[in-house]
Amino acid sequence: MRKLLLLALAAVALTASAQPPSSLKDAYKDLFMMGVAVNQRNITDSAQSALVVREFSSMTAENDMKPASVHPRPDTWTWERADRIADFCRHHGIKLRGHTLMWHNQMCDWMFYDADHRFVSKDTLFQRMRQHIHTVVNRYKDIVYCWDVFNECIADGPRRLDADGHDQPLRESKFYQICHSDEFIRKAFEYAREADPDALLFYNDYNECDPVKCDRICTMIRSMKADGVPIDGIGMQGHYNIYGPSEADIENAVSRYADIVDHIHMTELDIRVNREMGGQLQHSDNAGATLTDTLLRRQQAQYAAVFRVMRRHADKVDCVTFWNLSDRDSWLGPDNYPLLFDRNYQPKPVYHTVRDFE
Ligand code: G3I
Repeated sequence: MRKLLLLALAAVALTASAQPPSSLKDAYKDLFMMGVAVNQRNITDSAQSALVVREFSSMTAENDMKPASVHPRPDTWTWERADRIADFCRHHGIKLRGHTLMWHNQMCDWMFYDADHRFVSKDTLFQRMRQHIHTVVNRYKDIVYCWDVFNECIADGPRRLDADGHDQPLRESKFYQICHSDEFIRKAFEYAREADPDALLFYNDYNECDPVKCDRICTMIRSMKADGVPIDGIGMQGHYNIYGPSEADIENAVSRYADIVDHIHMTELDIRVNREMGGQLQHSDNAGATLTDTLLRRQQAQYAAVFRVMRRHADKVDCVTFWNLSDRDSWLGPDNYPLLFDRNYQPKPVYHTVRDFE
């Protein structure tokens, strides 16, 4: 409510001065933080780092804090790249989202196996997870304000009914193959809370507006919270396209998540100009495609819709993070044109759609 009042006052002030806000973070400062996922080049190149500092109030390491990046072998920790990002945040007063403590991808694969390359027991896996989580969380406790504790545990696709007629919602990851239940997710949250009682702890996933997946996420988080698992928030990745999800589907998903948790982050927003979506690259990076006026207008409409929903839920939404700084950096390839800055780091028309909202 207070945020909405501030927004109304800001709108009056804007009309009076007729000055557009000078940056994304400025435009949204009374609503939520604006974040960006960065690679090493973004924080070392002077023009790119100046852009990050000017526009964003929160940062995420695109790859450099993931398990495989910092802990490639049981006794080897490789902190240099993650430390550089943490130091950048400390130096510039930017908040750091921790991404990600656990994931089936870019994971420390050694954690799953014994010396004979057989799966370890559940207890050994939990002990290795705990050591990893405690070490990483403790190292960045002063600067990381929230962690994606577990990423992408829920399966995509239609319901898969077991013999009792219950949907089996979990991805068949190595975690699942060792544990045969959702216990590994619960444990990860417990370990993260032990390590830092103050950090906000998130479950993060993509295709989170798909009604079946949204159901699965809600059922899982609700049951875990009822059992006392320390989950503070839900991360909606937001790897969308210009055709979907619809504003109604996004609205529905945010409303449902807002019934369960007090903190919602959009963690990985980008909007590609073909029909693919989600957290995995599918068939194309759209190479060679040009951004026609029609595509551009659709993309502006989709970005406008996403931010309308986020603003409506500003009481629960704390942060919206773009997945990469510019089209040049995008994991989708530059010809998907998914971001607000072009491959020369110049603002695109869609930047103004997002920044200069009414
Ligand atoms: O580290 C190697 C490097 O040694 C090698 O020279 C280079 C050559 O291609 O590849 C490097 O690894 C790449 C890594 O990014 C770092 O650049 C991998 O091939 C590549 O697959 C990996 O992609 C990352 C992807 O996660 C992995 O699944 C993307 O950059 C990153 O944007 C993406 O981020 C994920 C989020 O963490 C979770 N949600 C979905 C999102 C998009 O997939």
